[in-house]
Amino acid sequence: MSHEPILELTGVTAGYGPFRALFDVSLSVPEGGAVALLGANGAGKTTVARVASGLVKPLEGSVDIAGREVTGKPTYHFARSGIVHAPEGRSVFSTFTVEENLALPFGRTFSRKGVPAALERAYEIFPQLGNRRKQIAGTLSGGEQRMLCLARALVESPKLLIADELSLGLAPIIVDQVYDLLEKIREAGTAVLVVEQHVGHALDLCDHVILLTHGEISWEGPSDEARHVVASTIFGSPGTE
Ligand SMILES: Nc1ncnc2c1ncn2[C@@H]1O[C@H](COP(=O)(O)OP(=O)(O)OP(=O)(O)O)[C@@H](O)[C@H]1O
Ligand SMILES: [Mg+2]
Repeated sequence: MSHEPILELTGVTAGYGPFRALFDVSLSVPEGGAVALLGANGAGKTTVARVASGLVKPLEGSVDIAGREVTGKPTYHFARSGIVHAPEGRSVFSTFTVEENLALPFGRTFSRKGVPAALERAYEIFPQLGNRRKQIAGTLSGGEQRMLCLARALVESPKLLIADELSLGLAPIIVDQVYDLLEKIREAGTAVLVVEQHVGHALDLCDHVILLTHGEISWEGPSDEARHVVASTIFGSPGTE
């Protein structure tokens, strides 16, 4: 087992067209570690997630996965290196069924023979999806579409799971279930980079916190020290939820 971080960003500046969203961002996620990325709306959290999964190419700086530089490589290269990104919002193929939405990525990850077992595992995690396996994904409720994205990421047990606003639009009881699953995934050795508005959940799960402010890292430290800093910075008041 190597001691290289699974993900390392060094001096990353990135943006969209002429707009800069990140300035000189350096961060690392250790192998099997759990890092929470927090910050106000528009701070650049999703952009960090996109840089880390190869969707946005840095203008300056570098990205390393498990000690290998991958800056500027195509997105599939990041996926093959074991990075799975559960993006913000609903990202399902809306004209495909629930089952097709899962079978496609599972086939790539586990080969065709592994698909039935992976599907069973997904339906075990979210029975609601199992009941709707033949339904067209575009007609699922918002929360169900979110579950579909998550089922994929959770079953693939990558080296690093990047979860952006995991709990958005999910009922509190489902959010609790999702975080229980994330604990299990961590125990199984997957590192996680979590972007989350439910700060309490993120702090419970993660051991390290990075706070982004206007595209720059404004604070970084262990989760137990983060509670007050984060609460006052993001919400302007103490308390985490
Ligand atoms: N595709 C895009 N084109 C142009 N600007 C963008 C694009 N995506 C994001 N931005 C801008 O980049 C900045 C950072 O956005 P980002 O989505 O990374 O923030 P965030 O921290 O994830 O916010 P939120 O908590 O609202 O999800 C914002 O000012 C946003 O308007
Ligand atoms: Mg975002």
